[in-house]
Amino acid sequence: MSSKNTDNSYGWVAKLFHWAVFLIIIAQYFFANNLREYNQYHFATGVLILLVMLIRFSWRATNPVPTMPEGTGPLQTMAAHGLHILFYVLLIGMPITGIAIVQAKGRVVSFFGMFDLPQIFTATGAEDAGEFAATIHGVVAKVILAAILIHIIVALYHHFGKKDNVLRRMLPW
Ligand code: HEM
Ligand code: HEM
Repeated sequence: MSSKNTDNSYGWVAKLFHWAVFLIIIAQYFFANNLREYNQYHFATGVLILLVMLIRFSWRATNPVPTMPEGTGPLQTMAAHGLHILFYVLLIGMPITGIAIVQAKGRVVSFFGMFDLPQIFTATGAEDAGEFAATIHGVVAKVILAAILIHIIVALYHHFGKKDNVLRRMLPW
């Protein structure tokens, strides 16, 4: 299997990114349910998502995106690409709001004890910004879940309804 994407299939690098992020996000929502204590695992895992999505985006930007099955209209193609781009925006924006919540309280975000993030959101008056960030973080958490749900339904519809290769070309096997 090629590492690079081709016109009609994702390469193994894109597949690895896709399914690794899928698993990390499941873990992340699980950690989000244990936030009563100051949960550094939720913070570090969120930073991991940020780093992986940035690398993944550069990979996507330098690779062909597989074309839609024959007969797909321009609107549908735009919707598909739009949802994919939205995932990149949400999964990069989400950790940034998280970092803002924590740093606005003057606290430090550690990446699994390996290094600390630089304090970016600690200006005076940051408390209000931190509360705003928390509101956004809570809303976007739900938007991401809704987007994932739509994405899964569409993928299954392609496979079982339209019977094209759209799901198969993202599967690891
Ligand atoms: C894609 C990455 C992330 C996802 C999917 C995510 C998801 C969530 C979810 C579902 C909640 C619970 C929201 C609620 O109860 O309304 C939450 C809360 C929280 N998250 Fe994240 N998070 C991410 C990244 C981060 C990062 C990187 C940090 C900090 C470095 C962070 C810090 C927090 C904090 C402090 C709260 C509690 C917010 C509050 O006080 O209301 N999150 N997150
Ligand atoms: C955390 C959950 C998920 C996220 C955030 C996510 C995100 C994404 C993104 C960003 C892409 C675009 C890849 C690119 O071109 O760079 C994509 C493609 C794809 N995903 Fe997911 N995905 C998730 C879960 C799933 C699941 C559970 C399935 C299967 C049921 C699935 C099936 C697919 C398929 C088939 C494609 C390729 C679509 C195409 O060829 O146009 N995804 N996903």
